[in-house]
Amino acid sequence: MKILVTGGAGFIGSHTVVELQSAGYEVAVVDNLYNASPKVIGRLEAITGKKVPFYKVDIRDREGLTEVFEQEKPDAVIHFAGLKAVGESVRKPWEYYENNIGGTLVLTDVMRKCGCKNIIFSSSATVYGDPAFIPITEECPKGTCTNPYGWTKWMLEQILSDLHTADPEWNVVLLRYFNPIGAHKSGTIGENPNGIPNNLMPYITQVAVGKLEKLHVFGNDYDTHDGTGVRDYIHVVDLAKGHVCALKKLEPGSGLSIYNLGTGVGYSVLDIVNSFEEATGVKIPYVIDPRRAGDIAECYSSPEKAEKELGWKAENGIREMCEDAWRWQSMNPQGYGD
Ligand code: NAD
Ligand code: UD1
Repeated sequence: MKILVTGGAGFIGSHTVVELQSAGYEVAVVDNLYNASPKVIGRLEAITGKKVPFYKVDIRDREGLTEVFEQEKPDAVIHFAGLKAVGESVRKPWEYYENNIGGTLVLTDVMRKCGCKNIIFSSSATVYGDPAFIPITEECPKGTCTNPYGWTKWMLEQILSDLHTADPEWNVVLLRYFNPIGAHKSGTIGENPNGIPNNLMPYITQVAVGKLEKLHVFGNDYDTHDGTGVRDYIHVVDLAKGHVCALKKLEPGSGLSIYNLGTGVGYSVLDIVNSFEEATGVKIPYVIDPRRAGDIAECYSSPEKAEKELGWKAENGIREMCEDAWRWQSMNPQGYGD
């Protein structure tokens, strides 16, 4: 079975390529390298010892994408390609809607014209908004998003569901990720944010490596065990393996499936700081700042449905997540260095 991975040079996509190849799948990668380094492909090949066919193509480029489909004839698509910076999406909503929604519309049109109607889509826990209940199950109603990035995920879930309703030949898996962190054990691929990181773990690793002075903790007056925000952090390799398991839901007649990919465990910001210090021996200075607009107090999953139906469960704990994030950052202080 051959899988086309859009956004396969990015953080989660690159780790998924490793797990797909290790599980015996053929892969091909499409990425416009907007938020990824061309070095990733060579590093993937070094990890798996297998060739990774790569196309520097934008998914909005209908002709270019059609050529890839004609060349590779994939059986299924795992669709990571998209813009993901929450703050930037507030400043550039048009760009986010055009890239994420416009891109997915072109992709799915090319797919159906080429007879490939199997797709796994990268969604996010952000579609739950301020969740109606915790731990969040897939039955939890979708909520109100606080930014255009979140709305693109919300709307793309609807668009892909509608495609399946209109044409049951489509098999669609929506995977709602919680907070992916960590990196491959080799320390050769990992998260490579542009500029100052928005997310907690890359900020911490950049403090640890001396690129940033101290962590700013956004609020310590939430209704949580220590007042700081609680999230469901998941090792990116576990998340990648979740995609391999989700492929079984693309069998003919599977239809539409939705899964949370998380660990079911919530850690606060200060829990993460302490775990990082314990796992690495590196001290993380921090100050308490006001709350960040749009943040919620607590967000963690119930991962039971994925375990029951996909046979998938996150295996790595917080220590491995911290150790592996740190190995990547300390071996690559400038990321991929381009
Ligand atoms: P990433 O930015 O590292 O990867 C996305 C990749 O898509 C990049 O390599 C980028 O160059 C590529 N891309 C963007 N627009 C493209 C286009 N028009 N054509 C071709 N390639 C394009 O991000 P990531 O963290 O690996 O996230 C992957 C997916 O998972 C995204 O859709 C993201 O929204 C979603 N997601 C991420 C998180 C997270 O915390 N990282 C959480 C929930 C959901
Ligand atoms: C982010 C995204 C969300 C996405 C989710 C999963 C934002 C606003 N939201 O949310 O769309 O679905 O990741 O990947 O980016 N924190 C600090 N200091 C920092 C950074 C973060 O204290 O410098 C705190 C936050 O307030 C939060 C926790 O750390 O309590 C995690 O933050 P972050 O990594 O940005 O993830 P989310 O807020 O869950």
